[in-house]
Amino acid sequence: MTLPTYRSFEDLPPQTEIGFGEIVAINLSSHTSPFTHGLHRYPAKFIPQIPRWAINELSRPGEVILDPFMGSGTSLVEALVADRYAHGIDLDPLACLIAKAKTARNDREELRHLHARLANSVLREEENLFVPMDGVKNFEHWFSRATWGTLQNIRNNILALDCSESSRVFLLCVFSSILRRVSNADDQTQKTYVSGTLRKNPPAARPAFFRALERAINSLDTVGSKRMDTHVRIHQASATAMPITDRSIDLIVTSPPYLDSVDYMYNMMVEYFWLGDVLGIPNRRDFNEARRLSVGGKKSQSNLTLPSCVSEYIDLNDLPDYRKAAAASYFSSMDNHFREAARVLKTGRNYVLVIGNSQTEKGQLPVHDALVSIASTHGFSLQHAFGYRIRRHYMKFPRKGRGGIILMDWVIVLKNEGRGLAPLRRLPMPEIMISPDAVAH
Ligand SMILES: C[S@@+](CC[C@H](N)C(=O)[O-])C[C@H]1O[C@@H](n2cnc3c(N)ncnc32)[C@H](O)[C@@H]1O
Repeated sequence: MTLPTYRSFEDLPPQTEIGFGEIVAINLSSHTSPFTHGLHRYPAKFIPQIPRWAINELSRPGEVILDPFMGSGTSLVEALVADRYAHGIDLDPLACLIAKAKTARNDREELRHLHARLANSVLREEENLFVPMDGVKNFEHWFSRATWGTLQNIRNNILALDCSESSRVFLLCVFSSILRRVSNADDQTQKTYVSGTLRKNPPAARPAFFRALERAINSLDTVGSKRMDTHVRIHQASATAMPITDRSIDLIVTSPPYLDSVDYMYNMMVEYFWLGDVLGIPNRRDFNEARRLSVGGKKSQSNLTLPSCVSEYIDLNDLPDYRKAAAASYFSSMDNHFREAARVLKTGRNYVLVIGNSQTEKGQLPVHDALVSIASTHGFSLQHAFGYRIRRHYMKFPRKGRGGIILMDWVIVLKNEGRGLAPLRRLPMPEIMISPDAVAH
């Protein structure tokens, strides 16, 4: 069987030049981390090309962009450099810290000065070791004693600095960005675990931190004359109850969690061990509680029922028992979210949604169709949809197993018709074949 060929782009062409249902390839040979995009890893991060395309196509300078599942804030950075205002919402406090560090008006001179001060004060491994998050046992499983002592010293020095709030956030974000690498945890996968077979030889923490800090401050220079200022508001809140005024948003661009998505907080566990107390999650119990609130989580609230319009696309009986409650909770939360989205988005304006389709033993689950159908019950009509495939640089392994494999992402353009039920159009469902070396994400 021959494999399909896709039109391939570095930057997506205007939407009028992409067919409805077409699948395109996005070539990641170009640099994907200009500006502050590369400050910190984050699970299922957007490639900047997608929000950039949506912002340029569907909004004008001076307008207001919202990303209600902002993660590490890729859309917000793109909104800023394109001269838009932006709101970002996420439940995950670490995501909020990263997004703040990437979009605040960072004072480069102050940061360079703080860099020099830290270089003079971070000189030793602390001997009197403490575990920064209560209830975490066996910390030496995650960090060698030498790394632990050095990290403790860096963290204490950052917290003791007399500096602006935005500089401290920036420094904590850089500190957080090296934690996985200097830990014993595997850094080839997203999951936080220490491999018994692939022994890791982590780099020393002190040089890793100062190299990362140098790079991070330089990345602020690449923003150059572009605006990084107070035009961004970050809210630690839920996309199902948004602290946003009615009809105040010109464009929503987002990638919500997938059904059975990665457990964002679990994947960032070593970072939470070190920063949980600073982020309002001081112990292991609070951490586990916070994880349950995320849309798409496997252990999310089980009292939610499947919105009736979804049953046309997804039969819960086709799912194994362990996925039924999670699927009901996912679609129900997305239903609440679209109600909110219809409230905050101006009439006639667009909502661009990026979502993967999900493969199970029984075939593809039309999650995208189900979401379009829920959205239509809140007045959103489907304007355009196309698929794109990329080789994600961060996920090195296919996501096989119980959660299914995501073979491709959909870009779905909706329009807020501003009243009742919008007409429903179904998405094309192409037969996807992946070549043996392609990596699903
Ligand atoms: C696919 S990620 C977004 C990644 C983002 N596009 C980026 O570039 O980093 C989805 C995000 O949704 C967040 N999330 C899950 N449930 C949420 C909710 N109820 N309200 C707001 N954010 C939520 C997760 O914490 C995660 O950061």
